[in-house]
Amino acid sequence: MIGKSEAVKSFHFLAEEPPSSIGKVFWSFYKPYKLSVIALTLCASIVGIYGLLNAFFTKILIDVLNDSPINNKIVLAFSIFVVMNFEMHNICWRVINYINLRIVPVIKNHLIQSLFDRVHNQSERFFQETLGGAIANNIMIMAENFERIGSNLSIRLIRSAAQLIAALITMYCIHPIFSMALLIWTLCFVLTSLRFSKKISNLANDLATAQSHVAGRVVDSITNFSSVKLFVRRVFEGTFIKKSLNQMTEMFQKKERFLIKFYFFQGFSITCLVGFIIYFLIRFKISDLITVGDFAFILGSTLYVTENVWSGTELIDQLNEAWGKCRHSLKVIFSPVEVVDKKNAPPLKVKAGKIVFDRVGFHYTPDRPFFINKSLTIHSGQKVGVVGYSGSGKSTFINLLLRLYDVTHGQILVDGQNIQSVDQNTLRSCIGLIPQNPSLFHRTLMDNIRFGRVSASDEEVIEAAKKAHVHEFALQLPRGYHSLIGEQGVKLSGGERQRVAIARVLLKNAPLLILDEATSQLDAVTEKAIKETLFEVMKEKTTLIIAHRLSTLLNMDRILVFDNGKIIEDGSHEDLLNKNGHYKSLWDAQIGGFLPSVQSKCMTK
Ligand SMILES: Nc1ncnc2c1ncn2[C@@H]1O[C@H](COP(=O)(O)OP(=O)(O)OP(=O)(O)O)[C@@H](O)[C@H]1O
Ligand SMILES: [Mg+2]
Repeated sequence: MIGKSEAVKSFHFLAEEPPSSIGKVFWSFYKPYKLSVIALTLCASIVGIYGLLNAFFTKILIDVLNDSPINNKIVLAFSIFVVMNFEMHNICWRVINYINLRIVPVIKNHLIQSLFDRVHNQSERFFQETLGGAIANNIMIMAENFERIGSNLSIRLIRSAAQLIAALITMYCIHPIFSMALLIWTLCFVLTSLRFSKKISNLANDLATAQSHVAGRVVDSITNFSSVKLFVRRVFEGTFIKKSLNQMTEMFQKKERFLIKFYFFQGFSITCLVGFIIYFLIRFKISDLITVGDFAFILGSTLYVTENVWSGTELIDQLNEAWGKCRHSLKVIFSPVEVVDKKNAPPLKVKAGKIVFDRVGFHYTPDRPFFINKSLTIHSGQKVGVVGYSGSGKSTFINLLLRLYDVTHGQILVDGQNIQSVDQNTLRSCIGLIPQNPSLFHRTLMDNIRFGRVSASDEEVIEAAKKAHVHEFALQLPRGYHSLIGEQGVKLSGGERQRVAIARVLLKNAPLLILDEATSQLDAVTEKAIKETLFEVMKEKTTLIIAHRLSTLLNMDRILVFDNGKIIEDGSHEDLLNKNGHYKSLWDAQIGGFLPSVQSKCMTK
């Protein structure tokens, strides 16, 4: 298991707190590659001045060839410069490619891993409120745009900047008016582009939101393929997705419409600049203030540089778009973590396994309070049954003990330690929970069981599997323990999934044990056999067992009766029957150990 401290050590930057800016995220990932960044900047600058150097050498060649007699040495020297310049350009590009090849995939992996880790650091509510597909999509959007900015856009931007500076200097040497015109145009052009870049970034952000919404809905729908099939809702789902798709199209078109208008005005400003420069070039040539070479150089470089400044500002737009997408993804992934540990929280130490609920209160939403001011002590090694109608708050009680949510009032103590003051990972390491709906991976049966203790040997996994009666069906699978069990274990039956969840917890062997309807899907014979195992395991552990089938709780030391978010009765089976209260009516109403239809008694929502 990766503890928090390990995660923080490996991905210290993203594991701590939301970064204040994307620039900070960039720097944190590129910082270890400072030398490579310097080399990239240098090569991109050389690549930037390549075109202008060529134009400049050509200008000199034209002027020398127009002289008589022709100076052959200069012609030869500048011809060689042209060739060398091309080779230099070639080498610089290859160096850029090579550095990118070395560092970009490593940084991208590191980023994905950090985001992945960060997502797993999120609390229960985050996963309940955010679609899984949208989370995955945001991680990939962030990684792709991060790569795009680092390996492509920023290099092209440096190249354009170097090109512009070189053009301004060389034009200035020929005649200041041309460089002044180019400079003023560039300033206006870049400032206007920057002025609108925020708008472009926001439009990109909206598009990214719409895209991740689509991804979330697609994944949600596909994951629920069986419901779609059983209720014959293929067309319905198509229409449902279409709404999000339409919204995405609308966002895309809104952004592109804006860009078309914006690019039109940018293009028009270049037309004006070129007209201005040509006018002055002709006037200066007629007055013999410039040579033919100057004429060709200035006209050529103006067209070349304006084109590149234009694509440079397009680059700024693309950068903004990529930036906007990264910002959106970071916002989703870095939504505040609800359940956080105090700084340097010590590990939980469980010796006896005593659990105390001290004046606890909780709510998912303020209008529906649970356990108002409830105090309760579960003594070390006690076996406690938990009963109540569906929706009465049994799983919520367990969620609070696991600190999947923080209590809103009071405190929960395990062996005298407030669970809010200890490292939450160590708390969960000390609790073996067999949940109501086991969550299984699309991995092999062996890997799924071993998830309980990743260091367990194959033999230990198989031993746990035998105790949980997994072994019987494992041997019948096509590849035995090495068979893939499908997403969420779809290739197994409900009862088989429960047995895998039990095996996993047996392997974990934590000091506190919680069974939330752990055997509800098993046949009577298998359930009896597994219960014998579980009773054996429970012997020295404090244990909570949630069950609808009251007969399964006869051996409990104590039973808690839940109703409408409160614990209304507490005592042994006999005590509760003698009380003639809620438990007694549940017991009397059970036919064959099951609760009656509960609709009328369910909590009003
Ligand atoms: N994340 C949540 N946000 C808001 N309400 C929730 C959330 N989880 C559960 N609830 C509500 O809290 C109530 C108690 O839920 P809980 O899962 O604790 O019931 P339960 O007693 O375990 O029921 P069951 O026997 O059906 O498992 C339910 O009405 C449920 O709708
Ligand atoms: Mg429940």
